[in-house]
Amino acid sequence: MDVQRRDFVLAGTLAAAAVATSAASAQTAPASAGPGETRGSSVLPGDEKVQYTGGTEVKRLKIVNTAELEVEAEKILPKGGYGYIFGGSGAEYTKRENLRAMVAIGLEPHFLGGVLKPDLSVTILGSKLPFPIIIPPMGSHGLAHVSKEIGTAQAAEATGALMVLSMQSNVSLEDVAAAHPGPKWMQLYFPADRGYAREVIMRAKAAGYSAIVPTIDSTLAYPRDNNIRNNFRIPASLGKGNAPKNEPDPVKAAAIMSRRKVDLNWDDMVWVKEQTGLPVVVKGVMSPATARQAVERGIDAVWVSNHGGRALDGVPASVSVLPRIADAVNGRVPIVFDSGIRRGQDVFRALALGADVVACGRPVLYGLALGGHLGAQSVLEYLRDDLYIVMQLAGTANVKAITRDYISPPRTV
Ligand SMILES: Cc1cc2nc3c(=O)[nH]c(=O)nc-3n(C[C@H](O)[C@H](O)[C@H](O)COP(=O)(O)O)c2cc1C
Repeated sequence: MDVQRRDFVLAGTLAAAAVATSAASAQTAPASAGPGETRGSSVLPGDEKVQYTGGTEVKRLKIVNTAELEVEAEKILPKGGYGYIFGGSGAEYTKRENLRAMVAIGLEPHFLGGVLKPDLSVTILGSKLPFPIIIPPMGSHGLAHVSKEIGTAQAAEATGALMVLSMQSNVSLEDVAAAHPGPKWMQLYFPADRGYAREVIMRAKAAGYSAIVPTIDSTLAYPRDNNIRNNFRIPASLGKGNAPKNEPDPVKAAAIMSRRKVDLNWDDMVWVKEQTGLPVVVKGVMSPATARQAVERGIDAVWVSNHGGRALDGVPASVSVLPRIADAVNGRVPIVFDSGIRRGQDVFRALALGADVVACGRPVLYGLALGGHLGAQSVLEYLRDDLYIVMQLAGTANVKAITRDYISPPRTV
């Protein structure tokens, strides 16, 4: 069956039924929160028959820039899958802002500093990384390539990059860990079922993930035009890598997975820390107030992100709020940044405005789509090498040296 042709209205009704079925097994499930609970990752009866094939080639990519990768990926991916990766929520104002605001930030180089070879290495929460660019959590890499998250994990392993695995991965977190013994964190969409939440974070700890990353900006799904237009849900046949172990029925298991704790709060974040003893990185911080509270509640790092413009549309570019958040945090915990990183300059901009490490999302998936693990690796190497050149040209010997002194004041003419 072609996933593009499914009846969307019918899909919504069946999804509601599937969600209702799961309520019985949810230990802390509140009453339905209403609109926004059905997601692209929801599974309905019959979905397992929907077939999908992402990219199949495995090759190094000659990268001119990441915008062109997007164009190439569109040519080879099924329409629904490409739309899912490419799209933002609502009117896509925030998605556009991420790119617009980023390029508007001018760099101010300091020449004649005698920098020969910039040192790109950085340490975050105990992980020493060769360069400050990490892979953010993204669900269902099978939409991009048949190697799924294994391809991305191999690219991370080859480059030494830290990979953050989405809880919505097609491959199990254990299999990803086997493919990437190097640094990795586990993302959590906090489930309504607390028993399942505990299962996932404890599995991650046992498999060697060294931090848990609860995403706080997606308690409900803000509609995405592409998915509605294409009647698209992630094909269940791609696999649900982290399904609850004690639920053999795949539809019920998927319903438990997709039903999130809507009334998420700080106690839930602290609970993750208490259960695992691992550092907790709160992803989706978009205000100084949230960042301050995170530090006060003992959270180990804040991740400034608007989800690449895929959560609440209408918020500013992540980079626009970064300086105020960095001021609020004042060096007390590390800051991760994402949304709109496309070049070495963007990494440099975010580091200068207060980030400790920076994540790049869609371009990694486009690289995976076009060239499997070698394609994703090519993207990471492109960003790394671009950053190297920018750092040398700007006159920064190491990552710590990249400060606001290297950002031009806003233009007055
Ligand atoms: C296809 C796709 C799936 C995503 N899935 C998740 C997810 O499962 N969990 C999450 O916290 N963020 C998810 N994100 C958001 C990314 O972690 C990251 O915030 C975003 O991609 C950064 O923006 P960029 O794509 O402009 O670099 C996803 C993003 C994309 C493009």
